[in-house]
Amino acid sequence: MAKAPKASEIDWSNLGFNYMDLPYRFLAHWKDGKWDDGELTEDATLHISEGSTGLHYGQADFEGLKAYRTKNNDIQLFRPDQNAARMHKSCERLLMPAFPEDKFVEAVKSVVKANADYVPPYGTGGTLYLRPLMIGVGGNIGVHPAQEYIFTIFAMPVGAYYKGGVTPTNFTTSYYDRAAPHGTGQSKVGGNYGGSLLPGDEAHKAGYSDVIYLDPATHTKIEEAGSANFFGVTKDNEFVTPKSDSILPSITKKSLLYLAEHNLGMKAIEGDVFIDKLDRFSEAGAMGTAAVIAPIGGIEYKDELHVFYSETEVGPVTQKLYDTLTGIQFGDVEAPEGWIQKVEY
Ligand code: PLP
Ligand code: COI
Repeated sequence: MAKAPKASEIDWSNLGFNYMDLPYRFLAHWKDGKWDDGELTEDATLHISEGSTGLHYGQADFEGLKAYRTKNNDIQLFRPDQNAARMHKSCERLLMPAFPEDKFVEAVKSVVKANADYVPPYGTGGTLYLRPLMIGVGGNIGVHPAQEYIFTIFAMPVGAYYKGGVTPTNFTTSYYDRAAPHGTGQSKVGGNYGGSLLPGDEAHKAGYSDVIYLDPATHTKIEEAGSANFFGVTKDNEFVTPKSDSILPSITKKSLLYLAEHNLGMKAIEGDVFIDKLDRFSEAGAMGTAAVIAPIGGIEYKDELHVFYSETEVGPVTQKLYDTLTGIQFGDVEAPEGWIQKVEY
């Protein structure tokens, strides 16, 4: 596998969202009922049994978080404790042994420190994306939880996830569901994403950035995008995002609910978002770690495109939310207590 280019050769402002084999990753093993201490390794290849439950039965979960370089050349993480807690929950759902939350955060920091040259410079828009991943391994064949697990954290510098970045793009609805009413939609597990590949591909081929999934029980309410939660802004200064047991509890969403209320003076609401009542919104967007805040130009539903603010220009409230969130993440805006953790390097 080709190693990442030298940091000095990377075009930081045009990264996109692509895999890169950086020098170091963290790797820990669960065996005989306990986690070992784990260590940094240079080997980007996992060596696992053909009987691994992560391969056959989807006993696999993951996280996504970022490291940001500030104006002063510090490196910081945004709410990594929240990723540790969410992964704990995903592990419980799949009967996997959670990696201790404090050690999760320490391991993330060790990976950032070891690859510090690859944290993009301040002002380029780039960040270091971290991918914690856990899979069931070992020799298995029945549908039972594995006896052994691997936990790894690897990293790569990234730019915009949706090609428009902060320029609006259009999204579409789908016949397919990403989650079942009492399934695994709340958990960040591999199977949710495997099932989203076909509808995602159909959306991309039709020229859309991503699918906006509807609620699996009635297909009348917006759930979320394939890789991000949804929000709408009403003419009455409300920030509205769907409440559902089958969507991922997004850390960006949780943060924006707080910032909309406390920094922007909006009313923050989690509730039903009916797909045939989109007129209530003057702006809309997708939000997530990879997506950051991606303005939604329009949503296609039943062959009609409902345009929110504009297909080409970001709305003023979306822009303010973006500036506040990224300002905090890059250290230019004061963060609420406990949101930022510095990485010593
Ligand atoms: N929804 C889905 C399906 C996702 O994959 C993600 C990405 O993690 C999100 C929402 C956003 O979650 P977060 O803000 O925690 O990254
Ligand atoms: C993230 O935002 O971290 C995600 O996991 C989204 C996607 C790349 C799966």
